[in-house]
Amino acid sequence: MHHAAKVRATRTPRTQHYLMCRPSHFEVTYSINPWMDPAKPVDTALAVTQWERLVSLHRELGHRVELIEPLPGCPDMVFAANGATVVDGRVLGARFRNVERAAEGPAYLEWFRSRGYQVHEPVHVNEGEGDFALAGDWLLAGTGFRSSPEGHAEAQEFLRRPVIRLDLVDPRFYHLDTALTVLDGDEIMYYPGAFSPGSQAVLRRLFPDAVVVTETDAELFGLNAVSDGCHVILPEAATGVARRLRERGFEPIGLDLSELLKGGGSVKCCTLEIRDRPTAG
Ligand code: ARG
Repeated sequence: MHHAAKVRATRTPRTQHYLMCRPSHFEVTYSINPWMDPAKPVDTALAVTQWERLVSLHRELGHRVELIEPLPGCPDMVFAANGATVVDGRVLGARFRNVERAAEGPAYLEWFRSRGYQVHEPVHVNEGEGDFALAGDWLLAGTGFRSSPEGHAEAQEFLRRPVIRLDLVDPRFYHLDTALTVLDGDEIMYYPGAFSPGSQAVLRRLFPDAVVVTETDAELFGLNAVSDGCHVILPEAATGVARRLRERGFEPIGLDLSELLKGGGSVKCCTLEIRDRPTAG
């Protein structure tokens, strides 16, 4: 049983660097994904409290969290993962599909530019880590609802990592980070039903040892998780995912982000990973 090698008794956490944005102006005034219902009231103060718990948790786990100033008129800016994609200290800016979020792209890019990062202003639509996930050497790239295939090509050229295109087909899972999580290196978990048959076959081929998650757990945003290679922060309702992770030797930590869920996002959407240092290769 060589697959047993994946179940390690101890997992080693990496120290991570994150960028986040306080949901001071969070509300649901428009609907650009099936989770958003402007008729449903949002408690902005509660959103801030829940988000602050996530920030504290990242810091307690030893990670470095930096903050970007929230802009009035950008209610979705809390979803920092959409703001950019950072690999080897190179920053690919975001260009949003929907006009409601257009102003966020330049704001995030400026945050990085003013801190001396090498930035690329995107020509084509890409929604940052919402649709890009670095898994080992590959840059997994979602398309179908938001990021465009041309945006994928632009990412490959600038970030210098081979892009694997994955077609999303279920509107509930409109961003890659609602359907797939990188846990450690090239270890991933995902919900197959979010992907086209061809993309499901690609995932099976590249990741035969992946944790395969149920539709129920995916609907609870159980895949919108952040892992440091040991601790995996995820929505607390996704108990099925937590159990699977424990079996694999990870340490799942559940959080309640109910208010942000009304915008169609959770833990990962709120956390942009800054990969400062170049890795080998
Ligand atoms: N309301 C936001 C949108 O639809 C949610 C973004 C969630 N972010 C994410 N990385 N999936 O664009």
